[in-house]
Amino acid sequence: MAGTCVIGLQWGDEAKGKLVDLLTSRFDVVVRYQGGANAGHTVVVGDKTYKLHHIPSGILNANVMNVVTPGVVINPPTILQELDSLASQGVKVAENLMLSDRAHVVFPWHIAEDRLRNEGGSGERESIGTTMRGIGPCYGDKVGRMNAVRLGDMFRPDFRERVNIITAGKNRLLSALGSTADQLDAAAIFDQYSGYAARLKPFVTDTTHYLLDQVEAGKKMLFEGAQGSLLDIDHGTFPYVTSSNASGVGVSAGSGVPGKWITKVLGVCKAYTTRVGGGPFPTELNNEMGNKIRELGREYGTTTGRPRRCGWFDAVAVRYTSRLSGIDAISLMMMDVLSLLPEIKICTAYEIDGERTNKFPSHVDDLRKVVPVYETIPGWETDVTKVRKIADLPTGARKYIDRVAELVGKPVEVVSVGPDRAQTMFAGSLAQ
Ligand code: GDP
Ligand code: IMO
Ligand code: MG
Repeated sequence: MAGTCVIGLQWGDEAKGKLVDLLTSRFDVVVRYQGGANAGHTVVVGDKTYKLHHIPSGILNANVMNVVTPGVVINPPTILQELDSLASQGVKVAENLMLSDRAHVVFPWHIAEDRLRNEGGSGERESIGTTMRGIGPCYGDKVGRMNAVRLGDMFRPDFRERVNIITAGKNRLLSALGSTADQLDAAAIFDQYSGYAARLKPFVTDTTHYLLDQVEAGKKMLFEGAQGSLLDIDHGTFPYVTSSNASGVGVSAGSGVPGKWITKVLGVCKAYTTRVGGGPFPTELNNEMGNKIRELGREYGTTTGRPRRCGWFDAVAVRYTSRLSGIDAISLMMMDVLSLLPEIKICTAYEIDGERTNKFPSHVDDLRKVVPVYETIPGWETDVTKVRKIADLPTGARKYIDRVAELVGKPVEVVSVGPDRAQTMFAGSLAQ
């Protein structure tokens, strides 16, 4: 348990936030290591709903340290709103949050560029349909190095000059992208961001040394993935991905904690599949059944409110991401959503150009050609939201869980039957 990771195995929104909140009491530190305000993690406790974007989902437990590491991109006004919203819900955040001085900062020019590029698409291609949170442009500047600002840079004497220089260049870029309305005012941005920096200052520190000290002292860490493995910049459905390593491979790079400290990886997936934004989705249901799953699962984005595209469970994709993220066990969420359907399908293989395969393709053009091979499983048509033991689930539901485990090749150690903490059942090594 030294380092345990919670990783999304699909295209995001697998209920990672719920699982991290539930597991937090078993750990000393909870870590976000990639993504930014594109993430929307929901934690439901009784009649309260918390929506987190940057802040780790361990924040509701006052005894745990929450750390945002260098791999995350931070949007200051959004994280301040998150802090205000937590405060208004009675959650005190003070010494239990750390933000890395190495984390890169999202500025208005990133958000404007994200919007302009999304609106224009890229010519022949379907638009990525980003969350418009400036994620791609900010990571782009990080990798490009010249125009990047890290959290720690906001406290340095040359911050004003850097904002001036970068704003001038970004205004030229925004004009070139066809914008007439997006000219940015360097002085106003400097004033605004200096104000944000002053409020964030108590949380800003070198988290890399802190985490290395913690692992060496034998503290237990929980790493909270954002997005999902199929949105991984290197191994996902490129270019319809996010701009960070959202699969398990990103944990070490983003946090600075060597991989040898990671002892368990939990893969989170829904009992069906959803996707927000553009890009191929082999098991998508563009029909009444898709609409039904969306309504039953209340599948609307936590960050953008967009309706999520819905489809059947894709075992080819999840087997791929389970291997990629090196998972030890599966957390199968939203089992209640399938519980009223007369029959359920699982995609067990793909047919591409008439050939059957179990291999998830590396190119989106091949993924677009996929004809899913389905296995039909009779529904159990019983409300499971009040079931508290896996053994008490209807036989049909247990058969479905066993089939998912068999196809993915890993045991199911968590089953979730509703958003509340109590609607979660643990098995195997996670059962206490
Ligand atoms: P994340 O981004 O992976 O943290 O997931 P989101 O919070 O974006 O989306 C998951 C949604 O499903 C949230 O609204 C949760 O409250 C809700 N949820 C979590 N587990 C369950 C479950 O087992 N059943 C149902 N019906 N909803 C769930
Ligand atoms: P959580 O952590 C679902 C999707 C966007 C878009 C693509 C790129 O809540 O699971 P970006 O703004 O990152 O450049 O958008 O990735 N996307 C998500 N989809 N859940 C998320 O986060 C997502 N974060 C980004 O819809 O298709
Ligand atoms: Mg989400």
